[in-house]
Amino acid sequence: MALAPQSVGQYAQDGYLSPIRVLSRAQAEDYRRRLEAVEASGRLPEGGLRSKSNLLLTWVDEIVRHPNVLDAVAGLIGPDILVWGTSFFIKEPRNKSFVAWHQDLTYWGLEPDTIVTAWIALSESLSENGAMRVIPGTHTSTIIPHRDTFSPDSLLSRGQEISVDVDEGKAVTLELDPGEMSLHHVKLIHGSEPNPSGKRRIGLAIRYLPPHVRQTAGMVDSAMLVRGVDAFGHFQPEQRPLGDLSEAAIAHHAEIVGASKRILMRGKGVRAAM
Ligand code: NI
Repeated sequence: MALAPQSVGQYAQDGYLSPIRVLSRAQAEDYRRRLEAVEASGRLPEGGLRSKSNLLLTWVDEIVRHPNVLDAVAGLIGPDILVWGTSFFIKEPRNKSFVAWHQDLTYWGLEPDTIVTAWIALSESLSENGAMRVIPGTHTSTIIPHRDTFSPDSLLSRGQEISVDVDEGKAVTLELDPGEMSLHHVKLIHGSEPNPSGKRRIGLAIRYLPPHVRQTAGMVDSAMLVRGVDAFGHFQPEQRPLGDLSEAAIAHHAEIVGASKRILMRGKGVRAAM
Protein backbone atom coordinates (compact mmCIF):
# COMPACT_ATOMS: atom_id res chain seq x y z
CA MET A 1 0.00 0.00 0.00
CA ALA A 2 3.05 2.33 -0.18
CA LEU A 3 2.28 5.60 -1.96
CA ALA A 4 3.55 6.05 -5.50
CA PRO A 5 6.19 8.81 -5.88
CA GLN A 6 3.62 10.64 -7.99
CA SER A 7 1.17 10.66 -5.05
CA VAL A 8 3.86 11.95 -2.68
CA GLY A 9 4.55 14.77 -5.15
CA GLN A 10 0.85 15.54 -5.44
CA TYR A 11 0.53 15.77 -1.64
CA ALA A 12 3.50 18.16 -1.52
CA GLN A 13 1.80 20.35 -4.10
CA ASP A 14 -1.87 20.21 -3.01
CA GLY A 15 -1.66 19.35 0.72
CA TYR A 16 -4.01 16.39 0.44
CA LEU A 17 -4.59 13.00 -1.21
CA SER A 18 -8.01 11.44 -1.73
CA PRO A 19 -9.58 8.96 -2.02
CA ILE A 20 -7.42 6.03 -0.85
CA ARG A 21 -9.11 2.70 -0.11
CA VAL A 22 -7.77 1.29 3.18
CA LEU A 23 -10.61 -0.95 4.44
CA SER A 24 -13.05 -3.09 2.51
CA ARG A 25 -16.65 -1.94 2.53
CA ALA A 26 -17.49 -4.92 4.79
CA GLN A 27 -14.73 -4.00 7.29
CA ALA A 28 -15.93 -0.39 7.38
CA GLU A 29 -19.50 -1.57 7.98
CA ASP A 30 -18.31 -3.83 10.78
CA TYR A 31 -16.51 -0.91 12.48
CA ARG A 32 -19.63 1.22 12.05
CA ARG A 33 -21.70 -1.49 13.79
CA ARG A 34 -19.22 -1.55 16.67
CA LEU A 35 -19.36 2.23 16.95
CA GLU A 36 -23.15 2.27 16.99
CA ALA A 37 -23.24 -0.55 19.57
CA VAL A 38 -20.98 1.38 21.93
CA GLU A 39 -23.04 4.55 21.40
CA ALA A 40 -26.21 2.59 22.26
CA SER A 41 -24.59 1.04 25.35
CA GLY A 42 -24.56 4.37 27.18
CA ARG A 43 -21.18 3.35 28.67
CA LEU A 44 -18.98 5.90 26.85
CA PRO A 45 -17.43 8.54 29.07
CA GLU A 46 -18.35 12.16 28.28
CA GLY A 47 -16.61 13.25 25.07
CA GLY A 48 -15.25 9.74 24.56
CA LEU A 49 -15.69 9.81 20.79
CA ARG A 50 -14.46 13.38 20.38
CA SER A 51 -11.00 12.78 21.77
CA LYS A 52 -8.58 9.84 21.77
CA SER A 53 -11.13 7.03 21.59
CA ASN A 54 -8.21 4.81 20.56
CA LEU A 55 -7.36 4.74 24.29
CA LEU A 56 -10.85 3.43 25.15
CA LEU A 57 -11.78 1.03 22.37
CA THR A 58 -9.64 -1.84 21.06
CA TRP A 59 -11.19 -1.64 17.59
CA VAL A 60 -10.23 2.05 17.23
CA ASP A 61 -6.70 1.08 18.35
CA GLU A 62 -6.85 -1.53 15.55
CA ILE A 63 -7.84 1.09 12.94
CA VAL A 64 -5.06 3.54 13.91
CA ARG A 65 -2.52 0.69 13.46
CA HIS A 66 -3.98 -0.64 10.19
CA PRO A 67 -1.05 -1.42 7.85
CA ASN A 68 -2.81 0.10 4.83
CA VAL A 69 -3.22 3.40 6.68
CA LEU A 70 0.31 3.39 8.13
CA ASP A 71 1.95 2.49 4.81
CA ALA A 72 0.41 5.55 3.18
CA VAL A 73 1.20 7.81 6.15
CA ALA A 74 4.83 6.56 6.21
CA GLY A 75 5.20 7.78 2.64
CA LEU A 76 4.51 11.32 3.87
CA ILE A 77 6.12 11.55 7.34
CA GLY A 78 8.61 8.67 7.46
CA PRO A 79 8.81 5.21 9.07
CA ASP A 80 8.49 6.24 12.75
CA ILE A 81 4.90 7.13 13.50
CA LEU A 82 3.02 8.42 16.55
CA VAL A 83 -0.73 8.90 16.89
CA TRP A 84 -1.30 12.23 18.64
CA GLY A 85 -5.07 12.25 18.49
CA THR A 86 -8.24 10.68 17.17
CA SER A 87 -11.67 12.25 16.79
CA PHE A 88 -14.88 10.89 15.39
CA PHE A 89 -16.59 13.56 13.29
CA ILE A 90 -20.22 12.50 13.21
CA LYS A 91 -22.97 14.48 11.51
CA GLU A 92 -26.44 13.27 12.29
CA PRO A 93 -29.10 13.42 9.55
CA ARG A 94 -30.81 16.80 9.15
CA ASN A 95 -28.41 18.45 11.56
CA LYS A 96 -26.85 21.92 11.62
CA SER A 97 -23.39 20.80 12.80
CA PHE A 98 -20.65 22.17 10.58
CA VAL A 99 -16.93 22.85 10.55
CA ALA A 100 -15.90 26.40 9.58
CA TRP A 101 -12.79 26.94 7.44
CA HIS A 102 -9.73 26.39 9.62
CA GLN A 103 -6.15 25.14 9.79
CA ASP A 104 -5.66 22.32 12.30
CA LEU A 105 -2.28 23.47 13.56
CA THR A 106 -3.63 26.81 14.90
CA TYR A 107 -4.07 25.70 18.52
CA TRP A 108 -2.10 22.49 18.64
CA GLY A 109 1.24 23.99 19.71
CA LEU A 110 3.20 21.44 17.65
CA GLU A 111 6.37 22.05 15.63
CA PRO A 112 7.41 21.41 12.92
CA ASP A 113 4.34 20.99 10.69
CA THR A 114 5.18 17.45 9.44
CA ILE A 115 1.77 16.28 10.63
CA VAL A 116 -0.89 14.49 8.62
CA THR A 117 -4.52 13.65 9.30
CA ALA A 118 -6.00 10.42 7.99
CA TRP A 119 -9.77 10.84 7.73
CA ILE A 120 -11.39 7.42 7.38
CA ALA A 121 -15.01 7.16 6.27
CA LEU A 122 -17.22 4.63 8.10
CA SER A 123 -20.26 5.82 6.14
CA GLU A 124 -20.57 7.50 2.78
CA SER A 125 -19.22 11.04 3.07
CA LEU A 126 -20.69 12.98 0.18
CA SER A 127 -21.44 16.56 -0.72
CA GLU A 128 -25.08 15.95 0.27
CA ASN A 129 -24.24 14.86 3.85
CA GLY A 130 -21.47 17.32 4.63
CA ALA A 131 -18.22 15.84 3.28
CA MET A 132 -14.94 17.61 4.06
CA ARG A 133 -13.90 20.39 1.67
CA VAL A 134 -10.35 21.65 1.20
CA ILE A 135 -8.62 24.59 -0.47
CA PRO A 136 -5.74 22.98 -2.41
CA GLY A 137 -2.23 24.33 -1.91
CA THR A 138 -3.00 26.39 1.22
CA HIS A 139 -0.78 24.18 3.42
CA THR A 140 2.26 26.15 2.28
CA SER A 141 0.93 29.41 3.75
CA THR A 142 1.56 30.52 7.32
CA ILE A 143 -1.08 30.15 10.02
CA ILE A 144 -3.77 32.70 9.23
CA PRO A 145 -5.35 34.36 12.31
CA HIS A 146 -8.42 32.46 13.57
CA ARG A 147 -11.22 33.76 15.78
CA ASP A 148 -13.03 31.66 18.39
CA THR A 149 -16.82 31.67 18.00
CA PHE A 150 -17.69 28.84 20.44
CA SER A 151 -20.70 28.31 18.14
CA PRO A 152 -22.89 25.47 19.51
CA ASP A 153 -23.19 24.04 15.97
CA SER A 154 -19.43 23.92 15.37
CA LEU A 155 -17.75 20.54 15.70
CA LEU A 156 -14.42 22.19 16.64
CA SER A 157 -13.14 22.63 20.20
CA ARG A 158 -13.32 26.44 20.20
CA GLY A 159 -15.68 26.98 17.25
CA GLN A 160 -12.66 28.50 15.56
CA GLU A 161 -12.75 29.93 12.05
CA ILE A 162 -10.32 31.71 9.78
CA SER A 163 -10.78 35.45 10.24
CA VAL A 164 -10.29 36.40 6.58
CA ASP A 165 -12.40 35.51 3.52
CA VAL A 166 -11.57 32.12 2.04
CA ASP A 167 -11.87 31.77 -1.74
CA GLU A 168 -14.64 29.14 -1.84
CA GLY A 169 -14.45 29.02 -5.62
CA LYS A 170 -11.26 26.98 -5.20
CA ALA A 171 -12.75 24.46 -2.76
CA VAL A 172 -12.61 20.74 -3.57
CA THR A 173 -15.06 18.32 -1.91
CA LEU A 174 -13.44 15.05 -0.78
CA GLU A 175 -16.18 12.50 -1.32
CA LEU A 176 -15.51 9.10 0.24
CA ASP A 177 -17.15 5.68 0.25
CA PRO A 178 -17.09 3.60 3.44
CA GLY A 179 -13.54 2.28 3.94
CA GLU A 180 -11.87 5.05 1.94
CA MET A 181 -9.68 7.74 3.50
CA SER A 182 -8.33 11.15 2.69
CA LEU A 183 -4.97 12.46 3.95
CA HIS A 184 -4.48 16.16 4.65
CA HIS A 185 -1.63 18.37 5.83
CA VAL A 186 -1.96 20.07 9.23
CA LYS A 187 -1.94 23.55 7.66
CA LEU A 188 -4.35 22.85 4.78
CA ILE A 189 -7.46 25.07 4.98
CA HIS A 190 -10.52 22.82 5.26
CA GLY A 191 -14.06 22.73 6.61
CA SER A 192 -17.45 21.17 5.98
CA GLU A 193 -21.10 22.08 5.59
CA PRO A 194 -24.06 20.83 7.64
CA ASN A 195 -25.87 17.57 6.81
CA PRO A 196 -29.39 18.30 5.50
CA SER A 197 -29.75 14.72 4.15
CA GLY A 198 -31.25 11.64 5.76
CA LYS A 199 -27.85 9.88 5.86
CA ARG A 200 -25.67 9.83 8.95
CA ARG A 201 -22.08 10.84 8.15
CA ILE A 202 -19.30 9.17 10.17
CA GLY A 203 -15.57 9.75 9.88
CA LEU A 204 -12.61 8.99 12.11
CA ALA A 205 -9.81 11.58 11.98
CA ILE A 206 -6.41 10.30 13.10
CA ARG A 207 -3.52 12.74 13.66
CA TYR A 208 -0.15 11.21 12.81
CA LEU A 209 3.27 12.75 13.43
CA PRO A 210 6.92 11.67 13.46
CA PRO A 211 8.69 11.55 16.86
CA HIS A 212 10.87 14.62 16.18
CA VAL A 213 7.78 16.87 16.42
CA ARG A 214 7.62 18.76 19.72
CA GLN A 215 4.93 20.33 21.86
CA THR A 216 5.83 24.02 22.30
CA ALA A 217 2.99 25.06 24.63
CA GLY A 218 5.16 24.44 27.69
CA MET A 219 2.99 21.55 28.90
CA VAL A 220 3.52 17.81 28.89
CA ASP A 221 1.90 16.19 25.86
CA SER A 222 1.39 12.53 25.05
CA ALA A 223 1.05 10.23 22.05
CA MET A 224 1.01 6.55 21.05
CA LEU A 225 3.83 4.96 19.05
CA VAL A 226 2.23 2.79 16.35
CA ARG A 227 5.20 2.05 14.05
CA GLY A 228 8.99 2.18 14.20
CA VAL A 229 10.89 3.76 17.09
CA ASP A 230 10.72 6.98 19.07
CA ALA A 231 14.31 8.13 19.54
CA PHE A 232 13.25 11.57 20.83
CA GLY A 233 10.90 11.01 23.78
CA HIS A 234 9.09 14.33 23.28
CA PHE A 235 5.75 12.74 24.14
CA GLN A 236 4.72 10.76 27.18
CA PRO A 237 3.77 7.27 25.92
CA GLU A 238 0.06 6.42 26.02
CA GLN A 239 -1.28 2.95 26.89
CA ARG A 240 -3.31 0.75 24.53
CA PRO A 241 -6.69 -0.38 25.84
CA LEU A 242 -6.61 -4.06 26.85
CA GLY A 243 -10.40 -4.28 26.72
CA ASP A 244 -13.17 -2.06 25.37
CA LEU A 245 -14.04 0.52 28.02
CA SER A 246 -12.10 -1.37 30.67
CA GLU A 247 -11.74 0.41 34.00
CA ALA A 248 -8.01 1.00 33.40
CA ALA A 249 -8.67 2.36 29.89
CA ILE A 250 -11.33 4.78 31.13
CA ALA A 251 -9.05 6.07 33.90
CA HIS A 252 -6.07 6.47 31.55
CA HIS A 253 -8.21 8.20 28.90
CA ALA A 254 -9.59 10.68 31.46
CA GLU A 255 -6.11 11.61 32.64
CA ILE A 256 -4.68 12.01 29.11
CA VAL A 257 -7.65 13.92 27.69
CA GLY A 258 -7.64 16.29 30.69
CA ALA A 259 -4.01 17.18 29.95
CA SER A 260 -4.57 17.67 26.21
CA LYS A 261 -7.63 19.88 26.84
CA ARG A 262 -5.43 22.19 28.89
CA ILE A 263 -3.15 22.55 25.86
CA LEU A 264 -5.96 23.11 23.33
CA MET A 265 -7.91 25.56 25.46
CA ARG A 266 -4.95 27.59 26.73
CA GLY A 267 -5.49 31.35 26.47
CA LYS A 268 -9.20 30.76 25.84
CA GLY A 269 -10.83 34.03 24.79
CA VAL A 270 -7.51 35.40 23.59
CA ARG A 271 -6.18 34.38 20.21
CA ALA A 272 -3.31 31.96 20.65
CA ALA A 273 -0.06 33.64 19.66
CA MET A 274 1.36 31.35 17.00
NI1 NI B 1 -9.64 20.19 11.01
